[in-house]
Amino acid sequence: MADLDGNKEASKYHLDTPATSEAFMMKGSNALDWGMKNRMSNIFNPETGRTVMLAVDHGYFMGPTTGLERIDVTIVPLLKYADTLMCTRGILRSTVPPTFTKGIVMRASGGPSILSELSNENIAVSMEDAIRMNVSAMAVQVYVGGKFETQSIHNLTRLVDMGNRYGIPVLGVTAVGRDMARDAKYMRLASRICAELGASYIKTYYVEKDFETVTASCPVPIVIAGGKKLPELDALTMAHNAIQQGASGVDMGRNIFQSDAPAAMIQAVRAVVHQDMKPKDALDLYETLKNEG
Ligand code: R5P
Repeated sequence: MADLDGNKEASKYHLDTPATSEAFMMKGSNALDWGMKNRMSNIFNPETGRTVMLAVDHGYFMGPTTGLERIDVTIVPLLKYADTLMCTRGILRSTVPPTFTKGIVMRASGGPSILSELSNENIAVSMEDAIRMNVSAMAVQVYVGGKFETQSIHNLTRLVDMGNRYGIPVLGVTAVGRDMARDAKYMRLASRICAELGASYIKTYYVEKDFETVTASCPVPIVIAGGKKLPELDALTMAHNAIQQGASGVDMGRNIFQSDAPAAMIQAVRAVVHQDMKPKDALDLYETLKNEG
């Protein structure tokens, strides 16, 4: 217990210094509770307001896809370069060292495999277990225009309600079905619906034309998925264009872990995201790091 007598007189009231009331760094996030903001700060680097999320959750419907056959061998060494890891609870418990103290974005929806109707997902983790694993956000797939559109949106809104109760942000992941056009009109629609229904930030795909209208019309931060493996320069160019057109980062998987040199690639992506490095310079960085082994 603190002493009651003989204490030094308090005097440093800094009367000339008004109390600060800083705006939170992330778009649309000012009204969030402290816990939500703190968790968002585990995902987005407070210095740049951007993130490199390393996405390795593909196994939840694809099984051991190329590059993720042995997450312990291929992914764990990359963790030091990521701002955040996106994964399932199964991989988190079985494979990710608990000494990893950056943000975890947990895949929180699932159900169907690549062998069946992908939009038929349900919530796949309880709030208690997400809290137990100290996650920074929960990710839920939303299939706007898909067969089970309403069900997937209901998954989002239920997770938002539960997340709001405990201060855990929800990442709305816009899924594009096989027959849907990947254009700005669709991305605007899907992203905006996720934001309107309470997602704290959105993952969508980059589109060549009018992507800045997707970021402009979404009131919360957007990160882009990497998508299928591209040549390194193309992937770095896509990340660069997305950032310059208003994205707050990438949630990139295959273009990192399927690269010939994943450690070099994630560092090049970091330079694009956090330092606004130009794609050709980032490719040079990639080649240099790759040659260094
Ligand atoms: C899909 O499996 C997941 O939502 C991935 O996290 C997402 O697609 C990002 O991974 P990639 O960059 O490989 O598309």
